Amino acid sequence: MRRKTLALVAAGAGTVLALAACGNNSGGGAAGGSSNGASAGGGPKVGVILPDTKSSARWESFDKPLLQQAMQAAGVDADIQNAQGDPQKFATLADGMIQRGVKVLMIVNLSSEGGAAVEKKAQAAGIPTIDYDRLTLGGTADYYVSFDNVKVGHLQGQGLVDCLSAKNAPKGANIIEIEGSPTDNNATLFHQGQEQVLKPKYDSGDYKLVQSQPVDQWDNQKGGQLFEQILTSNGGKVDGVVAANDGLSLAVITVLQKNGLNGKVPVTGQDATVDGLKALLRGDQCVNVFKPIKQEAEAAAKIAIALAKGDRSAADQVAKASSHDPQGNRDVKSVLLDPIMIKKQDVKQVIDSGEVKASDVCSGDVAQLCQAAGIPAS
Ligand code: BGC
Repeated sequence: MRRKTLALVAAGAGTVLALAACGNNSGGGAAGGSSNGASAGGGPKVGVILPDTKSSARWESFDKPLLQQAMQAAGVDADIQNAQGDPQKFATLADGMIQRGVKVLMIVNLSSEGGAAVEKKAQAAGIPTIDYDRLTLGGTADYYVSFDNVKVGHLQGQGLVDCLSAKNAPKGANIIEIEGSPTDNNATLFHQGQEQVLKPKYDSGDYKLVQSQPVDQWDNQKGGQLFEQILTSNGGKVDGVVAANDGLSLAVITVLQKNGLNGKVPVTGQDATVDGLKALLRGDQCVNVFKPIKQEAEAAAKIAIALAKGDRSAADQVAKASSHDPQGNRDVKSVLLDPIMIKKQDVKQVIDSGEVKASDVCSGDVAQLCQAAGIPAS
């Protein structure tokens, strides 16, 4: 605790103090001179590129501040940028960070191709890379920090089954799947996990898969339009919807509302965003998957900090799991955290974790629903 405070104060007060504080704690810096403060050129030590601001509220509302906090607490200067969904911008940001001599580059790729190109350049410049949240297939990242993404999908599938049986859904229930981006390996893993639960139901005829629809770049608006088209061509019949994240779920719910079906048709989600939690409390979304991003950001920051100091064995201590990249045919040292299924009664758990504020969720019509769910107003 004391160490944290010291480093924080020092980071605020200036690089020299931060260097002194961290150098003392770590018992010496990396070979090659520079210790735990700024990079050789005096710029930020860790470069982070987040993917966009629209596919999920998580990147700007959770990941950015939590990564910033975790790096700051260790007295490491980080440059956290957002590619705004633009592959060109993603590449340009990475080039700039590599040129400025960051010690570590952490990326959330927009596609495996784009991510792999950046990682190759970083590798040529001797800069280690971390895949944050999304594995870059065919890439060269030294580490991968994420959740067990097949389990995320499994929980979505299981949640949907629970919700459908609670509603006594008819045999042959019509299911529409609105999936993530085909360019995102996570979307593939989420779908794999969902299939573990849903495929046997489709095979037995308990459920009928109307359509499984990937959504390019997780574009929420497009997801809503695609859902509407599928619903219309199925004669307005739907009993349950797999929506791969909260952004897509909210787009689906808007269409259901137009058709007077919200609250009647269970919809899944992911990310436990403020709007997702509100939809859960209102009964418009039936199940969400909470991924404690604080844990993800802290693990990634720990690895980045160790790598910035040139301490690979400390980084290995954090990344004890391993993930297979079928494209590159290699195993990547990983941190794979545990996702948590949440329903209406569990929203309190997310708020208690401190990641989402009650004041953000419990406003307007949701205030009363929060009270009923035992969430204290604060
Ligand atoms: C992340 C999800 C996110 C989605 C869209 C995935 O790779 O794991 O948390 O909702 O991308 O940004």
